[in-house]
Amino acid sequence: MVIHDVIVVGGGLAGMRAAVEAARAGLNVAIVSKVHPVRSHSVAAQGGINAALKETDSWQNHMSDTVKGSDYLGDQDAIEILCREGPGDIMEFERMGAIFSRDETGRIAQRPFGGAEYPRTCYLADRTGHALIHVVYEQLLKHGVALYEEWHVVDLVVRDGRALGIIAIEIPTGKIHRLRSKATVLATGGYGRVYRSTTNALSSTGDGMSLALRAGAPLMDMEFVQFHPTTLKRTGILITEGARGEGAYLVNSEGERFMERYAPAKKDLASRDVVCRAEQTEIDEGRGVEGCVLLDMRHLGPEKINERLPQIRELSIDFEGVDPVETPIPVKPGVHYSMGGVMTDVHGRTPIEGLYAAGECACVSVHGANRLGGNSLLETIVFGRRAGKAAAEFSAGAELGAFPDDALGNAANSVAQMLKREDGESPHAILKELRSAMEEHCAIFRTEEGLREGLKRFESIRQRYKGVVLADKADPFNTELLTVLELGHIIDLAGAILMGALERKESRGSHFRTDHPERDDKNWLKHTLVNKKGEEFKISYKDVTIKKYKPTERKY
Ligand code: FUM
Repeated sequence: MVIHDVIVVGGGLAGMRAAVEAARAGLNVAIVSKVHPVRSHSVAAQGGINAALKETDSWQNHMSDTVKGSDYLGDQDAIEILCREGPGDIMEFERMGAIFSRDETGRIAQRPFGGAEYPRTCYLADRTGHALIHVVYEQLLKHGVALYEEWHVVDLVVRDGRALGIIAIEIPTGKIHRLRSKATVLATGGYGRVYRSTTNALSSTGDGMSLALRAGAPLMDMEFVQFHPTTLKRTGILITEGARGEGAYLVNSEGERFMERYAPAKKDLASRDVVCRAEQTEIDEGRGVEGCVLLDMRHLGPEKINERLPQIRELSIDFEGVDPVETPIPVKPGVHYSMGGVMTDVHGRTPIEGLYAAGECACVSVHGANRLGGNSLLETIVFGRRAGKAAAEFSAGAELGAFPDDALGNAANSVAQMLKREDGESPHAILKELRSAMEEHCAIFRTEEGLREGLKRFESIRQRYKGVVLADKADPFNTELLTVLELGHIIDLAGAILMGALERKESRGSHFRTDHPERDDKNWLKHTLVNKKGEEFKISYKDVTIKKYKPTERKY
């Protein structure tokens, strides 16, 4: 049996940052990840990371923008920590070796991003995540963090309210292992792959959220699914908001800069929920271009595009056949981020003793109903560090809990049953149907009728999943088995998202109910919690922490 003080599940920015922090405390730390850490989805982050670095800006300004961006659902104690501590974390990454792009005075350059009153998004051209993930990976090696790479976690072992470790399958061999720990940190990222069209990597199947849900932890605010306004027409690949930050703008089929009508002050740099609804309205009312709108950046000129947005140019040429130097890019809203996740406090603690969560997998909640671009990378490094520290402190004073004898056998049996089954349905058809249901009933605009229909389809998909059959019965590198296990997570999360969306009878941030189009602070200024008992989802609520910023009308 493998034993560590702290096990971090997930090797993206939040996970690696947590592991480094725990290792710095002198503990025996491991990362368990289904992909090599530098292939985690954080690597795909493009446009940047926010922090108030300049004298003309302040953490208070950052906080005020973030609270407004969250449509007043973000917890203001957590947002204050994000914005106050963020600059220190950015400087730490600079010291680790992340060479941020510079301005003309040689300081870290900062570009405007959506919903922000100041240009405070630090960047490395349009490959920010790539740079950050590599420098923190170096720290992982330096601190001797053990790495179980291409291991997929099948179970979180919790007894009597205490996390005891995990059960994981070693993908290259198919062997199933017990890994004991004093503390476990979940940092598995988001669940974009619950939907068909997403900017997220294939691995973004929300595993940590669903493992926590099954183990008895609540998920919070799952109805808030962020769509990004600019994803490529054919593939859903991200075209960074940094493009609009550098001056690109959206036009409809009539050549109109339509954002002027929807957000007269911030226009193309309104918050993402506002821009996505505007785009969808243009498309639905017949002013789209083959299901898209156009992102025009020709006026930026080749020099600026090549210097600040080189990857965007490459992606547009390679995946859309369009060179943005010469032609506007067809873009559409696509699923990008989960504001919801495993409920934690500001130290990453979940209600299960010894279980922590950080990054997109967690909901602390700094994003509330809508995240500002550039705040997710910041969340990973601020709250990854905090969760790693808290997990280390807990482990230093804890004993290993008794690991139940049946945990390995139970997990191994359920995998064996799946592999043995001869008759049933392929996972691919089930996955396709689930994604269609989510796109048709739980996208940008939602209604009670649509959500009820979505839940009906979800119920039948959940039953069909029980009879899923694999064509590949082999042990080594059985990626079909991985798909089936991930599908189980996706189904659970779809249920939680649909339930939250049906219950919340108002419109706030990314959750827009055409049958309840107004924000309703009297009844709905509260977080939604989802728990799961057996097959049943249970909804409860939690107060929002409001400090300085009282809810007011949100306009851009
Ligand atoms: O548009 C982007 O570059 C994405 C940034 C983010 O989601 O924070």
